[in-house]
Amino acid sequence: MKLSTQGGIKLRTADASDARRLYAMIQANLAEGHLLPRTLDELTVHAGRFVVAVRVRKIIGCAELAPLSAQVAEVRSLAVDASARGGRVGIAIVDELRRRARREGFEKLCAFTHAPGYFIHMGFSIVPHLWLAEKVFTDCVKCPQFRQCGQYAMVVPLDVAFNADRGYGLPAPTYAAVAAARPA
Ligand SMILES: CC(C)(COP(=O)(O)OP(=O)(O)OC[C@H]1O[C@@H](n2cnc3c(N)ncnc32)[C@H](O)[C@@H]1OP(=O)(O)O)[C@@H](O)C(=O)NCCC(=O)NCCS
Repeated sequence: MKLSTQGGIKLRTADASDARRLYAMIQANLAEGHLLPRTLDELTVHAGRFVVAVRVRKIIGCAELAPLSAQVAEVRSLAVDASARGGRVGIAIVDELRRRARREGFEKLCAFTHAPGYFIHMGFSIVPHLWLAEKVFTDCVKCPQFRQCGQYAMVVPLDVAFNADRGYGLPAPTYAAVAAARPA
């Protein structure tokens, strides 16, 4: 299914035939992004959860919308090819995952990352890991880095804070607007 087009870049849902290319993209960004290693088998099975960015039939970015519970979904395996960085491809993919998660009835979208600044830029907030117990008691407890985790747990609510027409963040209030709203 094609999802959207912007500047010659198309977003679409991946399918099993993309699994090798997803694998290559994740492997290429494993160390830099501290990404969770993925096997070709699981990527084949879960390819349909991935949104991919495509330019002239080449996959230049990807991320998975992985359900952690009925309420919480996770952005997993986010990567953009080095040749396509800085062009808002990553933002477009996360934005699409957010739309999809909202449509599928999730209440929150989370991410575990060493790059909190990037997600803050997209409206996520840092939260204690235990606020995402679904993740801690499934994945984290099996991780060799458990209790010495260098990743930030990040969450964005999918209800009122998200406005599909205005994109991924509400405009920050100006100082003048904040001052005017303050009681005298
Ligand atoms: C992180 C990554 C996905 C970003 O993809 P990208 O397409 O280059 O990013 P975008 O172009 O969508 O984002 C650009 C915006 O994010 C901001 N940004 C990028 N990295 C940032 C960071 N670490 N902290 C804060 N802001 C950041 C840029 O300043 C830019 O802001 P602007 O729109 O106001 O100009 C890409 O660098 C990547 O694949 N890295 C390796 C794998 C990885 O780190 N994955 C994430 C693991 S959770």
